[in-house]
Amino acid sequence: MNAKTGTIKIGDKSADLPVMSGTLGPDVIDIGKLYGATGAFTFDPGFLSTASCESKITYIDGDEGILLHRGYAIDELAEKGDFLETCYLLLYGELPTPKQKAEFDYTVTRHTMVHDQMTRFFQGFRRDAHPMAVMVGCVGALAAFYHDSTDITDPKQRMIASMRMIAKMPTIAAMAYKYNIGQPFVYPKNDLGYASNFLRMCFAVPCEEYQINPVIARALDRIFVLHADHEQNASTSTVRIAGSTGANPFACIAAGIAALWGPAHGGANEICLDMLREIGTVDRIPQFIARAKDKNDPFRLMGFGHRVYKNFDPRAKIMHKTCHEVLKEMGIKDDPLLDVAMELERIALSDPYFIERKLYPNVDFYSGITLKAMGFPTSMFTALFAVARTVGWIAQWKEMIEDPNQKIGRPRQLYVGQTKRDYAGIDQR
Ligand code: SDX
Repeated sequence: MNAKTGTIKIGDKSADLPVMSGTLGPDVIDIGKLYGATGAFTFDPGFLSTASCESKITYIDGDEGILLHRGYAIDELAEKGDFLETCYLLLYGELPTPKQKAEFDYTVTRHTMVHDQMTRFFQGFRRDAHPMAVMVGCVGALAAFYHDSTDITDPKQRMIASMRMIAKMPTIAAMAYKYNIGQPFVYPKNDLGYASNFLRMCFAVPCEEYQINPVIARALDRIFVLHADHEQNASTSTVRIAGSTGANPFACIAAGIAALWGPAHGGANEICLDMLREIGTVDRIPQFIARAKDKNDPFRLMGFGHRVYKNFDPRAKIMHKTCHEVLKEMGIKDDPLLDVAMELERIALSDPYFIERKLYPNVDFYSGITLKAMGFPTSMFTALFAVARTVGWIAQWKEMIEDPNQKIGRPRQLYVGQTKRDYAGIDQR
């Protein structure tokens, strides 16, 4: 990286700060020496202008609507590859050879079972527990079952933990769904692909053979690719911070699942479908657009807007296409929710409020309609996002652990509370 220099002057103090350039994207100012030289911190709540790390995994150009994983465009990966190929790429940095792909698929497939005592873990939840609450609990508990892959200093153990997480997440998510609907757990089958295995674990019943629909399986695999990784988003940053303390990988991923659950992040796909249901019909759209623009109303158009994309989210375009494919395959001629979604998108994209703020549909806007058409309840939408994002969290966690300059993440603050004052006994208050 070539280094230029920026100078910050504060009163009679100044700091010459190196400016570094990456291979793509904005330069960064290395402020590591700022506090020592000037006694001042930077201040950037929400990290609108802050790069937290160096990374080689994913690049997003928000203005151009570009998303690259290890240099490959998301639309090519989604259309031409499959999810486990993208997993390999994110973890190892290169697309696999046929031999490498076969070995990777074999390894992941043979880690899909969970320790059978995990089934007892589920008995402790209410049947109507939200699948994300179950996943946070179960994934964190994996550390209690797999002591042989929690030593983060051992590269072999790190890779075993990574494989276990990628492989077991669909099994745990499917178990959460089965428990929720009172059906028996369905074990994974080693002769099925990743998405097909997940569909069967969710929708098969012991009373009859489950027929995999290849169009639906391919669509779900593509949806997993679209959600695999996304640079330093809130849940990935959570995983990195947790990992920087040396916590075991299962605990770090559980932290990522918890962060993803929020409605401003991965939870948006569930809330977005609820919003489309609440709007109900096209004629009711204007009142909701008005609410989204009203500063006194906390309502926001879910599935719209993004911290980085100020153009179309490239994933949303592929999701929209997949949505039509799935509806057609499921024989759903006219889904009123899709009509509402498409009209809502048309109106919003022509409204100055959304245009000025560069608010476009994001990955969550069409995913809910698609997943609902596949047969998933809204409560499972974010769980599916977590299944897919696990590889991104793992890849980013691995990159952070293997960074020789890695330190514990410990930001400072602008203190605006009380100055020092004497204690007053209760009889003096
Ligand atoms: C994901 O970071 C990632 O990469 C995340 C993700 C990933 O793959 O990991 O892409 C996945 O989380 C997608 C985003 C899903 N969330 C939603 O769809 C929830 C609805 N969207 C918003 O809450 C919002 O757009 C965020 C949270 C996504 C982004 O918020 P920012 O960047 O902090 O922007 P902001 O809240 O400061 O909004 C800027 C302006 C504000 O208006 P003004 O104060 O300037 O007048 O835009 C407005 C906001 O009120 N605005 C919206 C809006 N989103 C922003 N107004 C109405 N509806 C919206 N959806």
